[in-house]
Amino acid sequence: MNSLRVIILAAGKGTRMKSDIPKVLHEVGGQPILKYVLDAVRKLGSLIYVIIGHQGEEVKKILDGRKIIAVKQKRLLGTADAIRRAQRGFKNYRGDVLIVCADTPLLREATLRSFVKAHQQTKAVCTVLTTIVDSPQGYGRIIRDTNDRVTAIREEKDASDQERRVKEINAGVYCVRSQELFETLERVKLNKIKKEFYLTDIIENFVKKNLKVEAVQTRDSLEGLGINTREDLSMAARVLRQRILKKLMEEGVTIVDPAATFIDVDVKIGKDTVIRPFSYIERGVQIGRRCKIGPFARLRPGTIIADDVEIGNFTEVSRTKMGARSLMKHFSFLGDTAVGKEVNIGAGTVTANFDGKNKNKTIIADHAFIGSDSVLIAPVKVGKRAVVGAGSVVTKGKVIPAGAVALGVPARIIRTRRAQ
Ligand code: UD1
Ligand code: CA
Repeated sequence: MNSLRVIILAAGKGTRMKSDIPKVLHEVGGQPILKYVLDAVRKLGSLIYVIIGHQGEEVKKILDGRKIIAVKQKRLLGTADAIRRAQRGFKNYRGDVLIVCADTPLLREATLRSFVKAHQQTKAVCTVLTTIVDSPQGYGRIIRDTNDRVTAIREEKDASDQERRVKEINAGVYCVRSQELFETLERVKLNKIKKEFYLTDIIENFVKKNLKVEAVQTRDSLEGLGINTREDLSMAARVLRQRILKKLMEEGVTIVDPAATFIDVDVKIGKDTVIRPFSYIERGVQIGRRCKIGPFARLRPGTIIADDVEIGNFTEVSRTKMGARSLMKHFSFLGDTAVGKEVNIGAGTVTANFDGKNKNKTIIADHAFIGSDSVLIAPVKVGKRAVVGAGSVVTKGKVIPAGAVALGVPARIIRTRRAQ
């Protein structure tokens, strides 16, 4: 791929979200929508400019990586104006610019890569990514002449009734020769209805000057989904979830009911593990092989589960490690806990990990047995093969030695078993 720089438009307020949070920071699958767009372009561009504006400092915090440059758009005067804010960095640059919106998290890297390739092969000045949708409401429509050549992108508010019926829409992705882009942007006029400078007006400008404009259609129309409303956000979440679940199934994980399973990005699950319905597995969780999770299990970030573990119904596990063959089968909570191998966590066990100020750790060593309905007030340590009797409350700072049997409220040691 010839030299390429990327500009991501992320300055908008997201008025239609009706939110105090900038639109591009709304999360799906455990991460902000802008992050998906960043990840899709990361390998494509030599430099990635992100136009920030509304609550820009908050948006800036998630920009990770050396080749990313944040550029401020102080007044939100539209998408054309947003691109112009980056102009200074492009003075001596002669290559192509890939422009994407930060609110289209379903775009795939592979789609963008072949889009740029197509642009560079046709030697067009500008190529736009389009897609056909059933309900084009809210999108810019692709206007073509009788020879099927693209002549303009018409925003909904400016479109005639006939133009509104067009189902081919602008996905908000463009590849443009840098010099021509910035020259043309200077000529874009203020749109009188919306009081904004439209980036989409560059198309008509290029066509008028007889510069070559091409369109590439995506095969998967969902990739063009732009998030403007909370309903769009939920749709994107569903699609991303389906992609995650499909990949896990391909890797040998059983998902009993994908429609009722919620797994975030960056979750790793080993072969032959079964995820039962209504389980919610959050970002970065790792699960080993042959585990049984759920139904109704919630595994939160920082959780690492070894092989052959069972985590049953109505359970929550947070920032916790669980060793091989350990069981926690019914309504329990483990937070900030290190559980060894072959441990049994009885029904209703709760680690009280938060004392109002700090999160404290619980250690439960190999082969320990925690009886039903026990509360472990962290920090607590339960030694190897130790037993905590049903209904016990193990108070703060307590260490139950290896092999000891403790019970009661507060738990007292009543005898010691063989520790090995
Ligand atoms: C835009 C396109 C439309 C296309 C759709 C695809 C224009 C005029 N219209 O419409 O043709 O079908 O995207 O999803 O471009 N932004 C800024 N600065 C601004 C305004 C917006 O950075 O001053 C950013 C937003 O953060 C957003 C992106 O630009 O990420 C698009 O803005 P948005 O208001 O969502 O445009 P649409 O109405 O969806
Ligand atoms: Ca949009």
